[in-house]
Amino acid sequence: MSADVRSFFGRPIIIGGGIAGLLTALHLAPEPVLLLSRTPLGADASSAWAQGGLAVSLGVDDDPALHLADTLAAGDGLCDAEIATRILHAAADAIETLATLGVRFDRTSEGALLLGLEAAHGRRRIVHAGGDGSGQEIMRALVEAVRSAPSITVVEGVEARRLAVEDNTVRGVWASCSMSPVFFGTGRVVLATGGIGGLFLDSTNPSGSCGQGLALAARAGAVLADLEFIQFHPTALDGPDRPMPLISEAVRGEGATIVDETGRRFLEGVPGAELAPRDVVARAISKHLSKGHRAFLDVREKPGSAFARQFPTIASACRVAGIDPAYDLIPIRPAQHYHMGGVAVDPDGRSSVAGLWACGEVASTGLHGANRLASNSLTEAVVCARWVAESVAGSPIGVRTRSKAREIPAPNPLSLRPLLSRALGVKRHGEFLRDAVSAMLPLAELHHAASDPAAVGLMIAVAALLREESRGAHYRTDFPDLAVFARRSRLTLDGALATAREFACSSTLEELEQ
Ligand code: SIN
Repeated sequence: MSADVRSFFGRPIIIGGGIAGLLTALHLAPEPVLLLSRTPLGADASSAWAQGGLAVSLGVDDDPALHLADTLAAGDGLCDAEIATRILHAAADAIETLATLGVRFDRTSEGALLLGLEAAHGRRRIVHAGGDGSGQEIMRALVEAVRSAPSITVVEGVEARRLAVEDNTVRGVWASCSMSPVFFGTGRVVLATGGIGGLFLDSTNPSGSCGQGLALAARAGAVLADLEFIQFHPTALDGPDRPMPLISEAVRGEGATIVDETGRRFLEGVPGAELAPRDVVARAISKHLSKGHRAFLDVREKPGSAFARQFPTIASACRVAGIDPAYDLIPIRPAQHYHMGGVAVDPDGRSSVAGLWACGEVASTGLHGANRLASNSLTEAVVCARWVAESVAGSPIGVRTRSKAREIPAPNPLSLRPLLSRALGVKRHGEFLRDAVSAMLPLAELHHAASDPAAVGLMIAVAALLREESRGAHYRTDFPDLAVFARRSRLTLDGALATAREFACSSTLEELEQ
C-alpha cells in the first residue's frame, strides 16, 4: 500500500462517493485524481436514495427568476440571493451534463423531460428518473462513468479520519486502512461526504452519514455555516425500520393528502396545505402527533391507481411494511432528512482553509437558507461539482510534508443519538440544547469513537442555542418569533468549544447560587 500511496502524491483527493464526489472527479479529467470512499461506490451514499430529482425551470410557464423567488421564500430570509441566482441559472446545463453522461431521465413520448411538482414550488419543475428512483439512476450512470475513467483511481473501504493542515493550508489526508493509518500527501482536498442523518434516531439518510466531512473540516480549523438548520422531511414511513423509508413530496405533488386517524385533513387551514414549505408541514404534523393523534398519507384517490407505476420504490417500501396503498392509509412522521448547514464555501466551493473545498450536502453555499426548497440539493451538487473541479484544477498542488502516523478511532454516533434527537428535533428549547452542549463538551475533546460525532453535535447545538429566534427549520419554543434582522451563522470548532465552556461555567455558577 505504501508504494501506491507515494505514487498518488500531489493528486487532488476527493472524499466521498456520492453524486457530488463522482461528478467532481469526472469534471477534473484528464487530471489524475484519487477518490476515497468508505464503502463500495454507491453502497451507502444518500445520493442513491434520492427520490425527488432535480429542480430546474424548464417549463413553458417557468424561468429561473420564478425558481429563485420560490427558493428565497422557502429559505425564510436567509438565502444568499447572489449564489442562488448563479446556481439556478446553471441548472439546465447541469441536467444536460447528466443526460450526456447517460442518465435516463423520465420523458414524454416526444422526448421532452417530464416535470413533477413538489412542495413550495409554484410550477412543475422537478426532473426525475425511474419515477421515484432519481438518485439510483444518476448514481448508476455516474458510477459507470467513473469506473471507466482512466484518470480516476477509486479507493474503496478507506475512510478519511483527519486532514493534515499547516499554516491554515491542507497538506494531506490521514485515512484508515485495514493494517495501519495511511497518509496521502496532497495540497488539494474536496469534501463530498454528505449529511448528518446518522446522528439522529429517526432519519431518512444512511446511518453511516454522521457528519464525517464536518468533523474533518472543523478539526482542520475551517469555518462552518448555518449549522442549526436541519430539515425534517414530513413524510417518512412510520414503521420499525431505521433508517426510515422516505415517501417523496412528489406524492403530495400528485394530489395525495395528509389525514389523521379520524380522516380529518388537519393541514387544510395552513396556507399551501400539504404543499406548504417542508418546515411548515413537518411542524404541523409534529404538533398533531404530540397531541396524541396519528398522521397518514392518503393516496387512494390521488394519485390513485397511478401510484405504484409512478412511485415504484415507495410502493415497494409499503409492501414490505404490509401496507397496500390502494386500500390502506400510509402512516407517516417527520424524520431528519437534510442539513442546510455545512462547511462555509465561496461560489467555487473553497472553504476558509487553503486547499480545502466542499461540495454537496456537506457544503453550505447559501442556496438553501433556513429551509431548503425540495429537490434544490441535487441541482446544487451537480452545478457546483463543475465549479469546484475548475477551481481545484486551477490551484497549486501544494508541497510535500512529513506527518507522524496518527490512529484515529472510527466515528460511532450510536450513544449520542437520543440526546441529539431530543435537543435538535423539529421543536427546540434552550434547556435541552444546553443539556446536549454539556454532554458533548467532554466527549468532543477526547480521543474516542464518539468524539468526532460529538464535536459535530456540539457545534450544531451551540449554533442552535445562539440563534434566539425561530426561522425556517429552526424552531425554538422559547424564542418563537422571527428576529428583525436575518443573519447567517458562522462557527469554528474552537469558537464552539469556548462558547460551550462559557455555558458550562455559567450553569455551574447558577447551580451554586441556588
Ligand atoms: C422528496 O422526494 O420528497 C425529497 C426530495 C428532496 O429532499 O429534495
